[in-house]
Amino acid sequence: LSAAELKAPGPALPEGPGKEAVTKMCTSCHGTAVFTGMRMSGTGWESEVGAMVEKGAQGSAEEIRAVVGYLAKNFGKTN
Ligand code: HEC
Repeated sequence: LSAAELKAPGPALPEGPGKEAVTKMCTSCHGTAVFTGMRMSGTGWESEVGAMVEKGAQGSAEEIRAVVGYLAKNFGKTN
């Protein structure tokens, strides 16, 4: 992705539980394109979200769980 693509809002997120938490936690620094193009297992998403928390993403333990669940469901390996 180019710098411009990173900054763009990116594709709309699929509806579902956890969408709000993702919107809140994951769209302040970059758009959705950064993660909607990826496919990872739950464990993969868990470590990716952990890496983003280290960069400064903020959310409660509950929100983090919701984000990991949402990403694994919508952008998981078996899709
Ligand atoms: C505090 C700013 C910030 C927030 C909030 C944030 N990110 Fe990121 N993210 C970055 C930066 C900066 C990069 C650029 C690449 C790098 O530095 O590794 C990035 C890159 C990525 C990448 C590309 C792969 C990688 O690791 O570089 C993915 C996937 C990603 N973010 C997912 C997420 C998800 C999911 C969330 C919500 C939990 C999130 N980001 C929230 C700053 C943030």
